[in-house]
Amino acid sequence: MLLLLAAACVVAFVLLLYMVSPLISPKPLKLPGAHVVVTGGSSGIGKCVAIECYKQGAFITLIARNEVTFYMYAQEKLGPVDMLINCAGTSTTGKFEDLEVSCFERLMAVNYLGSVYASHAVIATMKERRMGRIVFVSSQAGQVGLFGYTAYSPTKFALRGLAEALQMENQLILSYVGSFSYSRRKKTMKTIVN
Ligand SMILES: NC(=O)c1ccc[n+]([C@@H]2O[C@H](COP(=O)([O-])OP(=O)(O)OC[C@H]3O[C@@H](n4cnc5c(N)ncnc54)[C@H](OP(=O)(O)O)[C@@H]3O)[C@@H](O)[C@H]2O)c1
Repeated sequence: MLLLLAAACVVAFVLLLYMVSPLISPKPLKLPGAHVVVTGGSSGIGKCVAIECYKQGAFITLIARNEVTFYMYAQEKLGPVDMLINCAGTSTTGKFEDLEVSCFERLMAVNYLGSVYASHAVIATMKERRMGRIVFVSSQAGQVGLFGYTAYSPTKFALRGLAEALQMENQLILSYVGSFSYSRRKKTMKTIVN
């Protein structure tokens, strides 16, 4: 009898979870018609991701240096940001003692703080709308420290920490950090939007 009651409780709990899951899960993002903002979209991975989103029917705003006014215009024109892809980044290699301290500051400003600024600008609206995606482009050097990358690696570790903490704070918004390969770009985009 007690066993039966316990089983009924478990079933009721699972049913309850199922019923409230639409309220606590992020809404799926459909790329067709979505407004996607890509920082560092003028070349490389950012450009490639932007083209992929465009092909799948999204409206794209690209941000690179000197493009800030375009971003503001696009915001008005295309409405709120559905997905922000933080891709702007730069790198410098060299042994720790050979690099100027200013190098560490510059990389942290571009790679890490650049993503903080952009994400901070869009998150309030995403939370209001209970939907959105924020993507952070880290690196293998953000998973493990690499020889010659003392200035770059920490910026990518920082991004990962940011993405994970942000995900915990905002269950309704997905933050994604992962590796990107050109040949698997379609699969990557699918993982991000779903
Ligand atoms: N390539 C790789 O093997 C690799 C591997 C792992 C991770 N990543 C990461 O992936 C991202 C893209 O890399 P990528 O190889 O595609 O690089 P990329 O071709 O050099 O593109 C970098 C992008 O970032 C923008 N950018 C650079 N410095 C900037 C600054 N100070 N302010 C604003 N925008 C700036 C550039 O735009 P403008 O020059 O027009 O401003 C450009 O659009 C980076 O975050 C990188 O760390 C790359």
